[in-house]
Amino acid sequence: MRIFSGIQPTGRKHLGNYIGAIRQYVEAQERGEAILCIVDLHATTVPYDAAALRRSVLDTAAMLLAAGLDPARCILFRQSDVAEHPELCWLLCAVTAHGDLNRMHQFKEKSARQRELVSAGLLFYPVLQAADVLAYRAEEVPVGADQRQHVELMRDIALRFNERFGETLIVPRHRIPEVGARIMDLQEPERKMSTTGSTEQGTIYVLDEPPAIAKKLKSAVTDSGSDIIRSPQKPGISNLIEVMAVIRETESADVELEFDGAGYGRFKQAVADAVVDYLTPVRGRYAELRADEAALEAVLAEGAERARSIAGETLADVREQMGVGPPRQRGSARQTLGDELS
Ligand code: AMP
Ligand code: TRP
Repeated sequence: MRIFSGIQPTGRKHLGNYIGAIRQYVEAQERGEAILCIVDLHATTVPYDAAALRRSVLDTAAMLLAAGLDPARCILFRQSDVAEHPELCWLLCAVTAHGDLNRMHQFKEKSARQRELVSAGLLFYPVLQAADVLAYRAEEVPVGADQRQHVELMRDIALRFNERFGETLIVPRHRIPEVGARIMDLQEPERKMSTTGSTEQGTIYVLDEPPAIAKKLKSAVTDSGSDIIRSPQKPGISNLIEVMAVIRETESADVELEFDGAGYGRFKQAVADAVVDYLTPVRGRYAELRADEAALEAVLAEGAERARSIAGETLADVREQMGVGPPRQRGSARQTLGDELS
């Protein structure tokens, strides 16, 4: 099974990214052919700094490798290295409803936040995301809950393409974890932890030092009760229970049982210890990996080459079906190469 996901090279990655998404990428290597893309073209849809973007791609690559992605067992690459993505994006525009793009939650939120320019890129963002996945004919897309609508849209796009131009694309499905798909801000547990919207004190970054992690968790907002149970009235404690369950690889109910009667103070301390233990090895490996930029670039270059060979075939089919470019001479490129070699 082919599994594809993308991650933005913007901002510092936080515990929500790690638990909701990065953890699943690492697991994907066990379950199938994992393809992970650092989506720098998506990052140009909001104001950004050009030099910082280049650095952030390497930050993100080092983070993913530190988390456990292994270039021998997955394809890790930078989106802008594979020109098939923007090309397919444009071609898919032919089967994308403008009205659907206008209705995307993320577009509405992000466009409302822009002070100067709401770029056209922001509107087309989900089409590029559809192209990312469909170019590889991936079946599964591991993401956090906030990406549900974008995956629904790429399914619609693939279905409409196949109806209009003949069976060409695979209709992918999302894989959203049952627990940890939406980690909340520790200070404002009604809001998701995020790079842009959440509070500094309420956001645990993967690269935070242990004392910072402990401080943020110990000052996490909870309600006035003392029971450690999940409930819509207790968003803060519910969030901590989820974090603990994911890290311990157990059920939330087991966490509730274990800390029954422990009180908030002890529970928060236990969560802090668990999060520190969870992230400390990642931070150590990150520092080592990030220092060697040439090695990171080499990993990305090799990934891009493998990615291009898959995406190139899909693009050849898509162009053929859509009547774009000269007719394909079936297998000719390879045939010629084969002839020359023999
Ligand atoms: P981004 O850094 O925005 O590219 O997001 C990378 C991945 O992290 C996406 O799959 C998101 O769905 C996921 N994600 C972002 N925020 C959270 C959160 N608070 N909880 C769980 N997953 C998240
Ligand atoms: N939009 C995704 C996010 O913000 C990132 C992304 C881009 C992505 N292309 C993708 C996720 C393809 C999954 C598949 O998190």
